[in-house]
Amino acid sequence: MDKPVIVALDFADDFECINFLNQFPKNQSLFLKIGLEMFCQYGHPFVKRLRERGYNIFLDLKLHDIPNTVRRTCQMIAKWDVQVGTIHYGAGEDVLVEEKEGLSGSNTKLLAVTQLTSLGQVELTNELQVSLPSQDYVTRLAKLAFNNGADGVISSALEVPMIKEATSEGIICVTPGIRPKSAQGGDQKRVATPSQAKKLGSDAIVVGRPITQAKDEYNAYVNIEKEWSK
Ligand code: C5P
Repeated sequence: MDKPVIVALDFADDFECINFLNQFPKNQSLFLKIGLEMFCQYGHPFVKRLRERGYNIFLDLKLHDIPNTVRRTCQMIAKWDVQVGTIHYGAGEDVLVEEKEGLSGSNTKLLAVTQLTSLGQVELTNELQVSLPSQDYVTRLAKLAFNNGADGVISSALEVPMIKEATSEGIICVTPGIRPKSAQGGDQKRVATPSQAKKLGSDAIVVGRPITQAKDEYNAYVNIEKEWSK
């Protein structure tokens, strides 16, 4: 993966989304994350529309179901020519194996969500009753995912060095929870700035609200991209 800034298209509707994209120069290469909000409203035709405009697509459906259902869903996604698809590692290793099988023959990279960046140690320990420290838990899930065929994982940038050390330098680490110094954290807990993420070894950053809710969205993207690629 060529170190992209992946923009999370978390908009209320496709009108807002296309208006956002129209601010960028026509030949600008963009990597866009289509998540549940847009996919539930517009489905595959929306994915197709953005692919036809030449954008790279990160289809973030975070699949979490039984192995057979996930494999059959992935067989469909494999025909869509998207660059990245996601699964929740919590669904277990059989699901991952089936997802990989479903995507076989396509160029879609498979990434596993470890622990959502909106969950901190308090939620992990008190709500989910996980006894491991958050970073150890994420590293453990990343190791299992990588050993079972995932191309990479989604984690906080703060966990990237541990994940790479426990698996391989070749694992793709995509990191949301990115907040430039001036931005609000919002619901994200394990956050990093674009330059911190770079130093920590992230292969790509996912940025939503700091760009899509900025007064000048295009400038916000340009500044984040500059800080990340410096
Ligand atoms: O607006 P913000 O920059 O927080 O958006 C982050 C995006 O990354 C959201 O679309 C969210 O669904 C996604 N994401 C995340 N944490 C993960 C996986 C995906 O925040 N572990």
